Amino acid sequence: MRRKKALIVYYTQTGQLKSIVDSVCNSLQEEFDFTFEELKPTPAFPFPWTGMSFYQAFPESVQETPCELEPFAFDPDDDFDLIILAYQVWYLSPSIPFTAFLQSPGARVMKDKPVITILGCRNMWIMAQQRVKKRIHDLGGKLVGNIVLADKHHNLVSVVTIVHWMLKGEKYGKGIYSTLFPVAGISERDIKDAQNFGPIIRDAFVNNKLESLQDDLLEKGAIHIKPVLMTVEKRGFMMFKPWSKFVLKKGGAGNPAREGRLKMFRAYLFTVIYLVSPIGGAIIWLIHKINYRKIQKLVYYYSHVK
Ligand SMILES: Cc1cc2nc3c(=O)[nH]c(=O)nc-3n(C[C@H](O)[C@H](O)[C@H](O)COP(=O)(O)O)c2cc1C
Repeated sequence: MRRKKALIVYYTQTGQLKSIVDSVCNSLQEEFDFTFEELKPTPAFPFPWTGMSFYQAFPESVQETPCELEPFAFDPDDDFDLIILAYQVWYLSPSIPFTAFLQSPGARVMKDKPVITILGCRNMWIMAQQRVKKRIHDLGGKLVGNIVLADKHHNLVSVVTIVHWMLKGEKYGKGIYSTLFPVAGISERDIKDAQNFGPIIRDAFVNNKLESLQDDLLEKGAIHIKPVLMTVEKRGFMMFKPWSKFVLKKGGAGNPAREGRLKMFRAYLFTVIYLVSPIGGAIIWLIHKINYRKIQKLVYYYSHVK
């Protein structure tokens, strides 16, 4: 009998997403031959992100404007049994390199194929996944599973640690910073435990149970949605759209003329995160208590793949 073939498409700056993918796929090796396709933007996005480059990625992320990618090594017309798409979130949107893949001719590889998405992010991914879901569907792919690993520290803490990590390249930090703040990113424990998802995926393929794969993954904790964060993210995304258009009026990707508006956006972002969101979060929490059923329905919807 022919061994099954899986294509894994991913991009990672720090290696975090690749270690999640390896953990999930570890036990799938008995069943599948893997083809790994690492997306390589040209030019590469800097890491650590220097100067304003971190904010320069904002408008294109939100508007899903692709960057250039090096040619793919895989054959898009190959007949894979499973496609795994591993991506990270940038500004509540699919990261630009991943967006570029989804809009490339190579993405036709998904046509009529089961697709599983794996996300490694800070804690806000729902708006990105909604758009990724739609693109997979439009490409003829069948999304059968979604696994999300996120930083479980408090929202206000993980903002500090992610920005520190991204701008300084230090995951652990130094000196007084490292005594005040936890290690940035997704915990090693959660990355290791992601290996528990492999046997579920394997079982779904062997026993032809792809329809119930997401429910089985959810039972093992593939997704944890915090309702208040979900609503904060949705409100935040509504504001990101006009902000990105406002910056784009000053020029395209990387244009230095955008810096003034990007600095305004940066001030807005941190004001919202540190001043507005704690009070807003408390109000949202109260409103959720009143709309309990509606919120539960939304959590259910965003946890699933349809
Ligand atoms: C420019 C930029 C914007 C980001 N925006 C978000 C975000 O909106 N939501 C989120 O959960 N994580 C966000 N992150 C964190 C990433 O999703 C990811 O966890 C981090 O970049 C490490 O991924 P990698 O090293 O595997 O590429 C952002 C990271 C970058 C670099």
